[in-house]
Parts: sequence; structure tokens; C-alpha cells
Amino acid sequence: MNRLTADELRSKYINFFVSKGHAQIQGKSLLPENDPTVLFTTAGMHPLVPYLLGEQHPAGKRLVDFQKCIRTGDIDAVGDASHLTFFEMLGNWSLGDYFKEEAIKMSFEFLTSPQWLNIPIEKLGVTVFEGEVATKGSGATEGSGATKGSVGIPRDDESAAIWKSLGIPENRIAFLPRADNWWGPAGTTGPCGPDTEMFYYIGDTPCKEDCKPGCSCNKWLEIWNDVFMQYNKNAAGEYEPLSRKCVDTGMGIERTVTVLNGKTSVYDTEIFAPIIAAIEKAANCRYGQDAETDRSIRIIADHVRSAVFILGDPKAVSPSNVGAGYVLRRLIRRAVRHGRKLSGEGMSLSLIAEVVVDGFKGAYPELEQNSAFIKNELNKEEAKFMETLQKGEHEFEKLLPNLLKDPRKIMSGRLAFKLYDTYGFPIELTEELAGEAGMTVNREEFDEAFKKHQELSRSMSGQAFKGGLGDQGEMAVKYHTATHLLHQALKLILGEHAAQKGSNITAERLRFDFTHEAPMTAEEIKKTEDIVNSQIMKDLPVFMETMGIEEAKAQGAIALFGEKYEAQVKVYTIGNSASDFFTKEVCGGPHVERTGTLGNFSIQKEQSSSAGVRRIRAVLK
Ligand code: ALA
Repeated sequence: MNRLTADELRSKYINFFVSKGHAQIQGKSLLPENDPTVLFTTAGMHPLVPYLLGEQHPAGKRLVDFQKCIRTGDIDAVGDASHLTFFEMLGNWSLGDYFKEEAIKMSFEFLTSPQWLNIPIEKLGVTVFEGEVATKGSGATEGSGATKGSVGIPRDDESAAIWKSLGIPENRIAFLPRADNWWGPAGTTGPCGPDTEMFYYIGDTPCKEDCKPGCSCNKWLEIWNDVFMQYNKNAAGEYEPLSRKCVDTGMGIERTVTVLNGKTSVYDTEIFAPIIAAIEKAANCRYGQDAETDRSIRIIADHVRSAVFILGDPKAVSPSNVGAGYVLRRLIRRAVRHGRKLSGEGMSLSLIAEVVVDGFKGAYPELEQNSAFIKNELNKEEAKFMETLQKGEHEFEKLLPNLLKDPRKIMSGRLAFKLYDTYGFPIELTEELAGEAGMTVNREEFDEAFKKHQELSRSMSGQAFKGGLGDQGEMAVKYHTATHLLHQALKLILGEHAAQKGSNITAERLRFDFTHEAPMTAEEIKKTEDIVNSQIMKDLPVFMETMGIEEAKAQGAIALFGEKYEAQVKVYTIGNSASDFFTKEVCGGPHVERTGTLGNFSIQKEQSSSAGVRRIRAVLK
């Protein structure tokens, strides 16, 4: 295998595709033009959407580039060994020129040829689309992208046969459903289609004879995706066949550099080494010694890198309370907080930013051109946040003598919320200060006040940081109740181990992460939907009682493992009575009064979220 740096990988990729008749084009801004449905460029194809839909590109029909991307959907997961908000994507495109055969052959050659990446074939596995039967009108999968009223999409035997002819053995080719092998659109409308994805085995040897991507050993890391763009999803949610078929591919630079260098974490590559070294130096700490420190270091490394690229962009935004500016503010403030966690005084993010600029200015000269702006904005935002923190700390000190009079040593959540609301003082810091004074904060009460506040002011983040019940209203409340039904249904179908790992609700859908190793089968998904819908049909009452946490558990209420609860908790029961119920859960609410108001429940997507965790996206209609 050729141990390449990110710079070397970028040039190899470009050179390879140029040698195959592609024209190199410039990657575009991180802040997309003409697409109000997203805040950032999320993939290499994003700036090319008009050309994928049929427009002529001035550079021709074969294109190659590298593109800076940001995806914030998993921002809360940043801190583990794999998640990033900013990443770079290499891509090659055929605009109505070559299709499956040539695309796959070129991918294979670049991956395995000694002249290029030289990856041993036995380390590679691929996935292809398993096909989908036609759906007409409303059905379980409508809205998930099924081609309304179409003849369906056949299983991609063609791609599988091409891989096989190149030497990928059958036991390393997995046929997977839409949740895995379908890409796009980048926003809510646009080009999309089935794809074939390439994976590298990061373990020593595959765990069994037919261990392939999708295996529960979770050792297959996706490095490249060839999308066969054949449809345009229109505003009505229908899939129109494209008159001209295209290919869109995306290779993740960080992941590919990781595997080429025999690493298992993107943070262990030369891409992050200087950034991490700068953080270690600034905070006088060591990476790789303890988990909490590592988490903070990774969060700072990732968030500062993203902030540098947003601020260094020709279309840069400044930190603010709306849209992309709000995402930027969140990134910077979270980095500041983790800096303070690592070292009491915190660290100057602009020092870390200098290292990021240095590392990437070769490929992205705009960073150096804008470096004064980048540092200035970081310093300003840091100072603003520090002011907020100082005011909050000062207020907390004033409150403290009174707080200490409480014999239970609990600070009310309403008061903590007031600090947040008036001074922007983050709840985590209130908890920290309370902890230092030997007290705890009533977090449940805080969360409740926070939710109500969000309900009133939706202007803050738009869709950028979807968190919990941030975006409320009637539909969100319905989705919240549906989430309880889903949680219990999953436990019934998959087993008790299927426990909530995350939940995220908007007015359009629910998203639910839960512990489970393998992808759910179509049958399991159907059964889960059926159970939820039958509880909706029964029009069960939903009621709340307050009780001690031990009592709640004794009554069979679901409580989240590892969650800290107050002595007294709210328990929501869905069922006819406290003893005859479908599900009981410790929860802050709010919920609907009866399940009959929810409508029809349908699972749109079931996919991997992280190791051992699956993610369901579902809608009510
Ligand atoms: N657009 C495809 C992706 O982002 C290549 O994976």
C-alpha cells in the first residue's frame, strides 16, 4: 500500500483522472450558491447540480476536483475517533459520458494499481444496490424516495458483475437496500440514484468467510462512493428519470489517508498531528492518555478546522445568531469550552487556527489570504464568549449564598435557565460551578424551560442544529409520542437491548438512534411499523405521573442507562391505566393526549449510525 499524505493523495487522484481524459475544475465555496435548503456544501457534487441535471459544463463531460465540505448532522458525535464536521472530498464526474463499467474500472484501477494507491484486493469489499420493487401511491416507503408510480429499480447485478470480473470475490460484494446504497439529493430536491460503495477492512483479517461491508463486526470503513445519477427528485417528492445518465463519485480524503497509513482513526493521521500537537502545547496536556482529554482535544481540533475553513472562505460569514453564522458560533464556543476544560485559563484558538492555515494553505490558498480575518474573528468571538462567561459566573456567585440554603443542595432548573436566557451562560458551566459548590442542578426542569423557550423563538438556528425537541410545535409533540411507541416496538421486535442512544425531532420527521448490531431486515421494519400503527389505531390515552425514580423503574418505566435523574421524575404512560399499558417512560414531555391523533407511522430509512448503533428515520402521515 502506498503511504500517502493528504497532499499526495489529492495530486495522485487528480493526475489519475486527468490521465483518463478528465478536466480538473476548481472546488467551490463552502457556502453554497442557489441552494436555500442547506447551509453548507455537503458533497463534491453539490456545486455541480445544474450540470448533473443536464446543463453543459464549459470544461467538458469528464471532470475531476477536490472539494471542501461540511456536514453538521452528526456534530454531537464529534469527539469520538471517527466523526468530523469538516472534510475534503475527491470526486470525478461523467456528465452523460461513461457510466457503470468505466466508472467502476477506473475506481478499481486507482485503488489497486501499484502506481496509484496499491491497496491489496483482499482488503477491499464493495456494496451494490439490492433493488426496489415499484410502489404506487402511498405505501410504507413513500417519501423515502421510492419512485412513485414507477416500474421500480432493479437489483444492480451489472455493477456486481463488473466488480467480480475485476477480481473482487463474491463473498466481499454485499447487496444492500436504499438506506445504504442510494445517494442524494444533497438538499431536498435534485439528482440522485443508486450507488456502489468501496470499503477497506481496518481489522487484521475479516471475521468470517463471508464477512463483507455491512457485517456486524463493523470493521469495514467506507472510503469511496460511485453514484449512478439516474433520477431527479422534484419538489413534489417524485423521482423523474434523468434524460442523461451521469456518474458522481466521492472519495473521503481523511478516511483514505487513514487506511493507507494503517491507522483506524482519522485523528491519528498526519492531517491532524500538527493540530493536536498545538492543542497539547497550548493546554499542557497529552493526547492518547485518557478518554475525556482525547475527546476534548478532538472536538477542538475538528471545530477549529471547520471554523478556519468557514472564516477563510471567499464567501465567509461571521459568527451570528442565524444560519451558517450560528453554526460557526456554536463551533467556536464549543471549542472554547473544551479549551477551558483542558486548561483552566483556556487557550487562544487563533494559535491553533494558525497551524490549520499552515497545514492547508497549499491546497487552499484562500486560507492564507484570509488569515488575518480568520484570527480576528476568532479572537472577537472568543472575547464575546468570555464576557458572557464572566457575567454568568458573577451572577452565579451572587446567587450562591441563597442557593446553599437549600438542604437538598439542588439548584432549580428555572434559575439555571435564567442564567442561560439572560446571559447566554451555558448549562454545562452552571452545572460545573454548582458542582464545585457541592450542588447539583435540576436538569430536567432546565430542559423543560429550554424547550418552552425554543418553542417561542424558532429564529435561532433554523434547521442547522437539530437537537432534541428544539424545533417544536404540534407536529414535534406528535413525533415525540411516536418516538415512545417506536422505542417500545423495537424492544418487542429486536429485544430489550434495543435501547435509545439518541433522539432528534423536527416538525417533519423523527430520528431515533438505538443499540443494535445488524441492519434490521425488511420484515423487522414492517413488524415495527405495524406495532406502532396498531397502538395508534387503539387511540390509547397518554398520561403523566410524578414519582420517585426507583418507583418508576419498579413499575417498568424505561429510563435511559447512564442518564442522571432527579429524585422525583415524570413518567409518561401510553395505555389504558398504570397497570395496563403499552409503554412507560421517564421523560420530560410534552406529549399528545391520545395516540389516535398521530396519523399513519412509517419508517423511511434504517441505517447505521455508528458502531453498534442503528438509526431510524420515520414520518407520520
Ligand atoms: N455524492 C456522493 C457522496 O457524497 C459521491 O458520497
